[in-house]
Amino acid sequence: MPKVVETQSMLLQVLILVFFVLSASVKNGNAGITSTFIRSEWPSNDIPLDHEVFAVPKGHNAPQQVHITQGDYNGKAVIISWVTPDEPGTSKVQYGVSKKNYDFTAEGAVRNYTFYNYTSGYIHQCLVDGLEYDTKYYYKIGNGDSYREFWFQTPPKINPDTPYKFGIIGDLGQTYNSLATLEHYMQSGAQAVLFVGDLAYADRYMYNDVGIRWDTWGRFVERSAAYQPWMWSVGNHEIEYMPYLGEVIPFKSYLNRYPTPHLASKSSSPLWYAIRRASAHIIVLSSYSPFVKYTPEWEWLQEELERVDREKTPWLIVLMHVPIYNSNEAHFMEGESMRAVFEEWFVHYKVDVIFAGHVHAYERSYRISNIHYNVSGGDCYPAADESAPVYITVGDGGNQEGLAERFRDPQPDYSAFREASYGHSTLEIKNRTHALYHWNRNDDGKKVPTDAFVLHNQYWGSNLRRRKLKKHHLRSVVGRVSSF
Ligand SMILES: [Fe+2]
Repeated sequence: MPKVVETQSMLLQVLILVFFVLSASVKNGNAGITSTFIRSEWPSNDIPLDHEVFAVPKGHNAPQQVHITQGDYNGKAVIISWVTPDEPGTSKVQYGVSKKNYDFTAEGAVRNYTFYNYTSGYIHQCLVDGLEYDTKYYYKIGNGDSYREFWFQTPPKINPDTPYKFGIIGDLGQTYNSLATLEHYMQSGAQAVLFVGDLAYADRYMYNDVGIRWDTWGRFVERSAAYQPWMWSVGNHEIEYMPYLGEVIPFKSYLNRYPTPHLASKSSSPLWYAIRRASAHIIVLSSYSPFVKYTPEWEWLQEELERVDREKTPWLIVLMHVPIYNSNEAHFMEGESMRAVFEEWFVHYKVDVIFAGHVHAYERSYRISNIHYNVSGGDCYPAADESAPVYITVGDGGNQEGLAERFRDPQPDYSAFREASYGHSTLEIKNRTHALYHWNRNDDGKKVPTDAFVLHNQYWGSNLRRRKLKKHHLRSVVGRVSSF
């Protein structure tokens, strides 16, 4: 073949290839991946009451359902909560920095509540404060021979470059799938849980079984929650509005059982609050409390966002139950009302990541926003926005309602990755600029990391600040060298 003809033929082949690549990408838009993984679903039945994971600890009136959560704004306190089944007993916590050496004592309070004809055990809540940072504490609760001992580690002091690893779990319930999620999470090495709502699914039961299933769930999560703090947020399964049982006070069981440090962040309700931990500022919102303009939650969030100091806590994380960006048929558009109210703030304050639950599947968005939409304008579609958060739905803990397997087709451009299976996430903060994120699919009992990416900090990622940081490092290195 003459050289000119050969070149023309090669050019034609390249053009054909380019055409196919371009037409394929046009067909797929910018949308991400819908995983082809199909989970052979285990039965989503709750674990029976007599299973060992719900075992009642031995001894008369022994403390059970032990769990801890952060007790203040900065991580120098914990709230320890437990239940004694037969009599109030003591609400005292003995604690110290070496095993069996309990040099300190904190005094808590006890309460109980009724739900239909069920009367709860005696619920103890004790604030243990004034702790040292980055220290392992041992603690002891209960009376006589029935006492029990646990331990926890306080976080490092607030510092922009402190590494810290969070786990994210949602919609857990108490099935065998829930157990797999919990066990896999406990192997992850994460130091605290950010829980995105829907705890026990006790509201799927009737009469006294509602209370009984709150108790089994408390014993179920104790294996983790007694040793490291779980930061709680509410889901719809905590509302428990059951007029047919004569129960109409929303969140009655949840509020009696799962305290939060809301006063420390100037919140008027345990349902929305904020904490700072290591290098993160975590804001917890309630999808099921009024949040439109001028409501307490709206007013509080406006003020809390102003309190965020990215120079001290570079990572700004928001938790809520109902996802704002979701492309599953389940609960589609349910987050739209909160998006309309809060999305502009999330973009303005450069929130790094927003975790939600509710949808029993996994999904991650690109950085997008829809803040230009107004009812009289034409722009009404999410667009790429570098200042916007990444939205992640982790409502796949494994509860008895099963998976949300029907994603909308085609996959919207805002959706980067989605898969209908069970799992949990981890967010491993490395320093002020980088964090590693993983979503771990359970894969029928095996822990399989499935979605992973490097999260760049929204505040310290800006070119100007990066340059400033580099200059600062250079100066401190020069300073160190010159001091030798
Ligand atoms: Fe939910």
